[in-house]
Amino acid sequence: MRILEKHKILEKNATLLLVFSFLVVTIGGIVQITPLFYLENTIEKVEGVRPYTPLELAGRDIYIREGCYVCHSQMIRPMRDEVERYGHYSLAAESMYDHPFQWGSKRTGPDLARVGGRYSDEWHIDHLRDPQSVVPESIMPKYGFLLDRVIHTDHIQQRLVADRRVGVPYTDEMIQNAVADFRTQADEFGDLSALQSRYPGAQVRNFDRQPQLTEMDALIAYLQVLGTMVDFSTFEPDPNR
Ligand code: HEC
Repeated sequence: MRILEKHKILEKNATLLLVFSFLVVTIGGIVQITPLFYLENTIEKVEGVRPYTPLELAGRDIYIREGCYVCHSQMIRPMRDEVERYGHYSLAAESMYDHPFQWGSKRTGPDLARVGGRYSDEWHIDHLRDPQSVVPESIMPKYGFLLDRVIHTDHIQQRLVADRRVGVPYTDEMIQNAVADFRTQADEFGDLSALQSRYPGAQVRNFDRQPQLTEMDALIAYLQVLGTMVDFSTFEPDPNR
């Protein structure tokens, strides 16, 4: 009971209560935050995750410009209904080169974190041009104009440099070859070996089925790589976590 008597002093004195509350919150904060400084890495290292190719990166910028994230998330939670519908839950490493990340919190449409390889390019072209032609009840807007918007390579080199500044490990070689890699990826007759040595597993083809390089090429290249970098048939979570 004595301790309660003492507590009364605190409760009756606003300034004292404020000082002690501040102390408690500070100690609590330090206990939570300090261990993070001593962890070597808060992101588990995962094999297969590589920086985006220039074309995928351009597609990602179009995804952001068009506000696709307003209706689509890119983060599969480790809950059974999500894992059964979308595939393996998202790993932190899978979005470590995303600036800004696209996890999102609004799902008017399905999660897109693993949409890569789920549909053909033709499906995506049809669906983006007229979603209701593929899914009659869809409320997704039409994006057919992307087929007419020829994409330019003027800024792609600087775009890679910008991502390097925030920690994406683009090498000098990748930056020097950005324009060539950009074109090669959408050209089924291009020299893929150089591109794929820089970006293992990069998919190379004419994504929009048109001779000219359009924003549709870039967006589909991006959609088709989503969630495909990590091979989950061989992936094992770090047992120390
Ligand atoms: C107004 C909300 C809205 C916006 C904005 C939107 N979508 Fe959708 N999207 C949906 C809905 C709803 C569906 C489910 C029905 C369907 O497949 O059309 C969907 C489905 C999809 C699918 C199929 C996913 C699957 O697993 O079946 C893809 C791919 C997709 N959207 C890509 C995009 C892209 C790329 C953009 C931006 C260019 C975009 N969406 C913008 C609402 C939206």
